[in-house]
Amino acid sequence: NSGKQFPIKFSQNPNSLSKKEREAILKKPGFGQKFTDHMLIIHYNDEKKWHDAEIKAYGPISLDPAVCVFHYAQEIFEGMKAYKANDGRILLFRPEANAKRFANSAKRLAMAQLPESIYLQAINEFVKAEKNWIPDQEIGSLYLRPFMIASKPYLGVKPSPEYLFMLIASPAGSYFSKDAQSVSVWVSEFYTRAAPGGTGEVKCGGNYAASLAAQQEATKNQCDQLIFLDSVEHKWIEEMGGMNIFFVFKDGTLLTPPLSGTILPGITRDSLITLAKDKGLTVKQEKYSIHQLIDDIQSKKISEIFACGTAAVITPIGKIKNSKGEYIINEGKSGKITQELRKSLIDIQFGNVIDPYQWVKVV
Ligand code: PLP
Ligand code: COI
Repeated sequence: NSGKQFPIKFSQNPNSLSKKEREAILKKPGFGQKFTDHMLIIHYNDEKKWHDAEIKAYGPISLDPAVCVFHYAQEIFEGMKAYKANDGRILLFRPEANAKRFANSAKRLAMAQLPESIYLQAINEFVKAEKNWIPDQEIGSLYLRPFMIASKPYLGVKPSPEYLFMLIASPAGSYFSKDAQSVSVWVSEFYTRAAPGGTGEVKCGGNYAASLAAQQEATKNQCDQLIFLDSVEHKWIEEMGGMNIFFVFKDGTLLTPPLSGTILPGITRDSLITLAKDKGLTVKQEKYSIHQLIDDIQSKKISEIFACGTAAVITPIGKIKNSKGEYIINEGKSGKITQELRKSLIDIQFGNVIDPYQWVKVV
């Protein structure tokens, strides 16, 4: 906490939930359904720059129907978590990496750049204000959702001169509702997520809007999630709707698609590459085709597949399905390397072990 602090006003929500009501939610939080008592908001316009920062009662905001975000989707967001360590410390996982990715997303969508120092200060002050909302370790963590919208009422197609940065939080258990050992994923022959030169490597709402019809197709095919292939050759595995993907070969080698410019550079992905390498495993960041994957599953060269991300943590993938058939991995169970990496990651995030990477920041 060195240097000048950006002033953030705090106004207590007079209608905050009672301890009893809050604790009932924290026992079974689900994902993204319940929100904490407060929200943070910072205003921007081209003249005043960032101003009027406030943490205040969570609730609806009023916007002119003409604001840019409603028409041209100038919106970006992030996802990160606050963890409660067993010794009571409150921890964030690689918040600087998050702040950087947010800044990069803002640049790609031609939005105002919130200085990373203000972003980090906002997260810290907000998490302190909502510290009673962090579930216990056995249950989960507090999911933080920073986002920014273009808030100038204007129908011209050009970057907005006004923005709102906001931060909300939601206590989170598991992202996938059922307590299955693994999830199933659908590979669409039609839909793609991102094209070269597009917005695939940043976190803007539009990417997710465009993925929903594909997710519907996955659901119709009894799958929990989906894998996107590249948009040029429609052959190379890229990532999932809201997660990166790793393949584990029988010899213990890991493979994850390279950061081609069309996939999101996941902070979990990056951390797992480091963790796996430090365990002595080989990690390849190489293009991998869907045809090769199916061959490798059938010839049992692939022993495990998992999805990873802030919301999903590490989730084993037990089944891959496309229009031609379905392919089961490791009898639909979580594998040894998946479990080992998951434990190493979670132990660092929750402060159960010493963090040799200085990823974890105490709030
Ligand atoms: N890919 C997509 C499309 C995502 O939405 C996410 C989630 O944020 C990820 C990958 C994983 O990123 P991270 O590990 O930084 O949460
Ligand atoms: C996250 O993991 O933070 C994400 O943004 C994924 C989202 C689809 C819930």
